[in-house]
Amino acid sequence: AGPCDIYASGNTPCIAAHSTTRALYNAYTGALYQVKRGSDGTTTDISPLSAGGVANAAAQDKFCSNTTCLITIIYDQSGRGNHLKQAPPGGFKGPEANGYDNLASAIGAPVTLNGKKAYGVFMSPGTGYSNNAASGTATGDEAEGMYAVLDGTHYNGACCFDYGNAEISSTDTGNGHMEAIYYGDNTAWGSGAGSGPWIMADLENGLFSGSSPANNPGDPSISHRFVNAVVKGGPNKWAIRGGNAASGSLSTYYSGARPSVSGYNPMSKEGAIILGIGGDNSNGAQGTFYEGVMTSGYPTDATENSVQANIVAAKYATAPLTSGTALTVGSSISLRATTSGYTTRYIAHTGATINTQVVSSSSTTALKKQASWTVRAGLANRDCFSFESVDTPGSFIRHADFALVLAANDGTKLLHEDATFCPQTGLNGETSSIRSWSYPTRYFRHYENVLYIASNGGVHTFDSATSFNSDVSWVISNGFA
Ligand code: AHR
Ligand code: AHR
Repeated sequence: AGPCDIYASGNTPCIAAHSTTRALYNAYTGALYQVKRGSDGTTTDISPLSAGGVANAAAQDKFCSNTTCLITIIYDQSGRGNHLKQAPPGGFKGPEANGYDNLASAIGAPVTLNGKKAYGVFMSPGTGYSNNAASGTATGDEAEGMYAVLDGTHYNGACCFDYGNAEISSTDTGNGHMEAIYYGDNTAWGSGAGSGPWIMADLENGLFSGSSPANNPGDPSISHRFVNAVVKGGPNKWAIRGGNAASGSLSTYYSGARPSVSGYNPMSKEGAIILGIGGDNSNGAQGTFYEGVMTSGYPTDATENSVQANIVAAKYATAPLTSGTALTVGSSISLRATTSGYTTRYIAHTGATINTQVVSSSSTTALKKQASWTVRAGLANRDCFSFESVDTPGSFIRHADFALVLAANDGTKLLHEDATFCPQTGLNGETSSIRSWSYPTRYFRHYENVLYIASNGGVHTFDSATSFNSDVSWVISNGFA
């Protein structure tokens, strides 16, 4: 059985079932998600390998080879058509054209399930999905349940990495107009024990970790690589549960009455569905989603415990984030441009600016050092890499406002994430492309000889689709110095 078969037998059926990694019903053979490729703008649907099975990641890899792909639709497997698509502007605008949010890269979150490759939805700040016309979702004070399998190492403190029930207008219409799972270390409203991240409930104008709108020490920090986050709510009762999605059982972190502050009892749920954003399209948060559902009715703990066992049996595990030219930690490398007319230029720095410069064996020692980078284990994720300046030890290539700059390692989580990059086989078919870990739609790209992290056809000038593949492909060799 799949998670939604278990919820159905508990008389709390799924009314929305979303996953890019696997079918959530034993009999489901339909599309899991849609991807769109950058080369020609065409789309394709990715389905399970077999009924109830893992996604056909090989079909995605084939469709997306030598180009970029975005996840455009996460289909609802419940049959209600509650698909998730690019979120529109609401109280806040997204970074994409017309105020829409960004779409996620199709390759930011590779995993295996029972040894079979699949991709989750790695959502950078600015990314969001929603359905403002969902059917069968709880409205008013009606009961519902939900779970989401997330990456417990990918989060931040911005508002709000959510999955669940929200406003149909993408605006803040008041307390109690949402009921969604929140995951991250935001402390603007509630918080739990330790320094986070926490599973909380976003009930609008507040992230709740228990009955108090502030700190509730019963809600622990939880950061397993794969987290199962559970929230449910009904008339004057709600609960937060959680656990390791790769082993063991669920714990209950809160179960009791609605918050003591006004506006949350009764609830005024509106029934839209959001992923990766707040109810008003606040879109500064980040996180990774693998699968999740929403139910009609308040699931029993026993039903949720069976779903947890099902998720554990799916055996989520990590998969490589890199491909192409292998890099050796501690070695010095230089990176040469491959765009016709620029092939004598290497990635270098002039002060804080990262640029390309013409470098050769007869260049000065100073320039050779400026064009040489020591490979380090990724500061935010050791499955990827960071690049330390040979002539300025302690300083790394990072992105800031999507430009690459040289910056001292200040020890912050943001710098570590901004300075972590995942090389892959070059988009031009050979060589290497250097993907940002934290913005996997974006790659090292030279534009007017200055380096950015660029997406293929995004809103910035440097995102131009013209010569994108060659501008993001580099020949990596031993460092000049
Ligand atoms: O409840 C926290 C956040 O507050 C909601 O997600 C958002 O709509 C509002 O800004
Ligand atoms: O480069 C994009 C973002 O811009 C970085 O993550 C952040 O440091 C800056 O605000």
